Amino acid sequence: MNTHLTELQKRDVVNWHPFTNAGSAPPIPIVRAHGTLLFDDQGKSYIDAISSWWVNLHGHSHPHIVNAVHKALEKWDHVMFAGFTHSPAIDFSEKLLPKLPGAMKKLFFSDNGSTAIEVALKISLQYFYNIGAPRKKIIAFRNSYHGDTFGAMSVAERGLFTRPFFSHLFEVDFINVLRQGDSSEQKNALLTEFKNLVSDGSAAAFIYEPVVQGAAGMHMYPPDFLDRLLRIAEEFSVIKIADEVMTGFGRTGPMFAHEFTDAKPDIVVLSKGITGGVFPLGATAVSGKIFDAFDSTEKDKTFYHGHSYTANPVILSAALASLELTEKPEFRENIARIELSHKRFAEQLRNHPQTENVRMQGTILALDVKSGSQTSYLNPLRDSLYNFFISRGVLLRPLGNTVYILPPYSISNLELEKVYAVIMEALDDMVLQRK
Ligand SMILES: Cc1ncc(COP(=O)(O)O)c(C=O)c1O
Repeated sequence: MNTHLTELQKRDVVNWHPFTNAGSAPPIPIVRAHGTLLFDDQGKSYIDAISSWWVNLHGHSHPHIVNAVHKALEKWDHVMFAGFTHSPAIDFSEKLLPKLPGAMKKLFFSDNGSTAIEVALKISLQYFYNIGAPRKKIIAFRNSYHGDTFGAMSVAERGLFTRPFFSHLFEVDFINVLRQGDSSEQKNALLTEFKNLVSDGSAAAFIYEPVVQGAAGMHMYPPDFLDRLLRIAEEFSVIKIADEVMTGFGRTGPMFAHEFTDAKPDIVVLSKGITGGVFPLGATAVSGKIFDAFDSTEKDKTFYHGHSYTANPVILSAALASLELTEKPEFRENIARIELSHKRFAEQLRNHPQTENVRMQGTILALDVKSGSQTSYLNPLRDSLYNFFISRGVLLRPLGNTVYILPPYSISNLELEKVYAVIMEALDDMVLQRK
């Protein structure tokens, strides 16, 4: 462990950091973030190759968003959203709703991805309550991650992150995601298993990360498999909840990963990139069919849910500014540029003796580093890889022995080349060590 702590590191003893073991190295104090770079208190810069936990879209401190926030702050701070409304929320929802997959009619705001998931689950259960035909069962994918609140934990992989809470998580039926190399028999078996789960009329909702399961280790699965599942869900009126918290806003290539499927969701959950990575915000979009069950003067049919900072106008102004940036030609051009660049690098990676399962989807490139142990979050390679990348001025945060790149779209070709070079250097070093 580094014994020469900087002033800020010494004072940081007051903070408890997320997903951080008490034995971890002290955190790096960041004093400025600009474009693709983070600057520490010693003057060193780091390329943010994972968009600060998948939130940043256009680069840090983008002037268009910064100006929108300045302007908004001169006008107001927070205004409660029950009984009141404001133009940033209206402008944003008017602009976003038509861009979403499916026929989305309303946006319900909350504070982050986890709360937006809670909202989606509660709306789904209350939908069936409101129409007078209660359903209880929720179906989810194994290996999924939907956040850290209790509902979100319940519908996610029962594993390392949730073990201390197992006895408090509600029951969910899990099915496997199709794996690379699975046969058509295996696919058919999964579809049959899913049909058996939904066909008894007790399933309220199926929740899934479309096309890429992020925290599971950037597991990518074929959209046609999802399409088949969604068609079955439709047959039995099961609500389809698309968790686009990570995949939304261009990460997988198109604006939303659901553009890869013909079947569309009834509910879309958004967060992370929704404000361009500037502020926390969650949004749960619902179709007209879902909202109709709540469109009643009966008090019992009200959705009694809300957070104090719901639809904060300053945050919504940032979200609107970010959405405006997604309409500029550079947004799609940059995504296409990164995708092309990743494709070339993926070829190089596939030929490296230290890699396996090299995969990509849009701007996300992932690989598993071969190791003596199983591919998992606690793989011992994780820390040495992370430290190596940091020492070279690149922020990559491997999920166990899975290394992935998920950059802000502002990343330059030169910066991308540096990220690739550092990954190659780490892999080459490992080959040398084995000799
Ligand atoms: C797919 C997915 N859903 C939900 C969440 C939870 O979002 P938050 O961390 O904002 O609570 C995450 C976070 O990584 C996520 O990747």
